Amino acid sequence: MLNGRRVLLVIGGGIAAYKCLDLIRRLQDRGAQVVPVMTRAAEEFVTPLSVAALSGSKVYRELFDLTDEAEMGHIQLSRAADLVVVAPATADLMAKMAHGVAGDLASTLLMATDKRVLIAPAMNVRMWDHAATQRNLETLTGDGVLVVGPDSGNMACGEYGPGRMAEVPEIVAAVEDALLNGPLKGKHVLVTSGPTHEPIDPVRYIANRSSGSQGSAIAQALVGLGARVTFVTGPATAPMPEGVDLVRVETAAEMLAAVKKGLPADAAVFAAAVADWRVEGASDSKIKKDGTGNLPVLEFAENPDILATVSKMKTGRPNLVVGFAAETDHVIDHATAKRLRKGCDWIVANDVSPETGIMGGSENDVTLIHKDGAEDWPRMGKQAVADRLAAKIAEVIGG
Ligand code: CTP
Repeated sequence: MLNGRRVLLVIGGGIAAYKCLDLIRRLQDRGAQVVPVMTRAAEEFVTPLSVAALSGSKVYRELFDLTDEAEMGHIQLSRAADLVVVAPATADLMAKMAHGVAGDLASTLLMATDKRVLIAPAMNVRMWDHAATQRNLETLTGDGVLVVGPDSGNMACGEYGPGRMAEVPEIVAAVEDALLNGPLKGKHVLVTSGPTHEPIDPVRYIANRSSGSQGSAIAQALVGLGARVTFVTGPATAPMPEGVDLVRVETAAEMLAAVKKGLPADAAVFAAAVADWRVEGASDSKIKKDGTGNLPVLEFAENPDILATVSKMKTGRPNLVVGFAAETDHVIDHATAKRLRKGCDWIVANDVSPETGIMGGSENDVTLIHKDGAEDWPRMGKQAVADRLAAKIAEVIGG
């Protein structure tokens, strides 16, 4: 299954474009999310309306569509996917890809993406056999582009031979192969996410403003690279990642127990905003006003530090332990000290001062701190941060 996997589908302008409607359906049946992009020529063969209706997604068409740029820039669009599929990949699109021509939205996305690309070529047999196309094919496979088909058979133009787009089940199998055999195939990564809720009594609790969106995005990106992900989450408001082993918890103590149960893992990412304190002796029944004006006094106890506990494990420690540092001042100094104090390998430091809008927002501005220094990443969407972090994790633990 492809639960939670994101496919950016570039539909080229060929008669085989009609098969994309079925392709979208079959990929969705397997749980994938499909975001379609159409070239202008593709619109001559299928209407954007039918593609939108079937995919349940906006269809991206124009490079200079200002609304799109405001919603999602083309660079971001090219990366908010686990795999880019080009079907049908026409001779024209293949030539553009091979030569780095970026004159419209589809070709620009194909140049800007940092994800793997799978093409399903479809064209007339002579065009396929032409030396130029074969040269382009060689260039593309040399660049790491994956290819499915073309098949041989009777073609719409009346000729016979190779050039017919692979059948939909073949393309789906190639997509599955590409997505499930990512660099993190066979690796287990544990991710914590969201806030924790520490009860005061059965109806009240202490919490924080974490939405869990960065943790969800990281888990999703790791799934996209083929990892098995155990996702231990507090009561987050962000959508849950798909295709993970989901473990829901409320308190820090429950989160620690779930993390211990979830190990061993090849890597662990601690993105949760764990409450530092819990209420000592939380009441089993609702605390009532006693009518005298006396106010309840809460006593706190320190919660276990999950990141430090796992980082300092003598046996069974994941090979790579990644923590987060939410700071409001002296971000790098505090985060560097935190990495050493907690014993993790990397710390993703971010400034959560209210004016940054990061906590609970959609963007993040991070510095990755490791033993060799600090890498300052530009401000970007939380999904982009997640993709970059997942790719770095794959460099260390991936096959
Ligand atoms: N963390 C954890 N368990 C805790 C507290 C924090 O696992 N009880 C993890 C978080 O998931 C994060 C990292 O530790 O990866 C740092 O969290 P942060 O809130 O920035 O640090 P604190 O430990 O709360 O330190 P301080 O209060 O000094 O900033």
